[in-house]
Amino acid sequence: MENSVLSPVAVQTINLTRHFGDKVAVDQLNLAVAEGEFFGFLGPNGAGKSTTINMLVGLLRPTAGTALIHGVDIWEQPLQAKQQIGVLPEGLNLYERLTAREFIRFAGTMYGLPADLVEERTTELLQLMDLEDDADKLIVDYSTGMRKKTALGAAIIHSPRILFLDEPFEGIDAISGRAIRSVLRQLRTRGTTIFFSSHILEVVERLCTRVAVINDGRLVAEGSMTELREKAHAGADATLEDLFIRAVGASVEETGGLSWLQES
Ligand SMILES: Nc1ncnc2c1ncn2[C@@H]1O[C@H](COP(=O)(O)OP(=O)(O)O)[C@@H](O)[C@H]1O
Ligand SMILES: [Mg+2]
Repeated sequence: MENSVLSPVAVQTINLTRHFGDKVAVDQLNLAVAEGEFFGFLGPNGAGKSTTINMLVGLLRPTAGTALIHGVDIWEQPLQAKQQIGVLPEGLNLYERLTAREFIRFAGTMYGLPADLVEERTTELLQLMDLEDDADKLIVDYSTGMRKKTALGAAIIHSPRILFLDEPFEGIDAISGRAIRSVLRQLRTRGTTIFFSSHILEVVERLCTRVAVINDGRLVAEGSMTELREKAHAGADATLEDLFIRAVGASVEETGGLSWLQES
């Protein structure tokens, strides 16, 4: 890892593995993300991205292996690890009968922030997410983009050191996408470590300092864009998509489709 000497490791998996019956969804995965990195976690549908993230944030118990948050095993010391993270899960689990303002406020209170700070940050987050006009409407009436922005507000109100996002740009409109990208850039500037999964390569390419590609539960490529180019013996104009196809190439040919690459 290029900057491991300078920055401590924020997120680490050691032989992290998850079985579902006979299916090996994640297979002895070893990842290390340095503090302050904007880390893109890529792979086709069913590759094991959500399963990995869910094990890292304490939502899904690993079959084997370890998930560390700043060196703390999230399954051994869940409270200590969870205080340091924010999560935007794939299947948003929002309280439909609350408004965005109430939901974000609720999250702040749950994290134990004092009431005046909760109010201050809720107002600020609603502005930042461009949700002010709808802040007092019920979430049940929100679009996917508005829901993701609400969930993101709730995930960062306690200013976590690490933010996990599972497909944050999936199924949302361009305006919401822009708001989310802008928030992520601001967090990164403040030194937040960002770990996010996506199958939309263009977004990953624009935002990430480093990427890992998984396929069939196994790591198939990892590094900065420059490193991936070098490893693939590709020219300086090779896009992430070119490198990605090389990385998962063999198995994509086996399964006969690149359809998910065109979905974005
Ligand atoms: N709760 C579950 N029960 C059984 N199989 C699952 C479950 N969750 C995920 N899987 C399987 O594990 C594999 C990885 O899934 P997932 O982590 O959701 O992939 P991704 O997020 O990369 O699309 C897939 O084959 C999926 O069908
Ligand atoms: Mg997923």
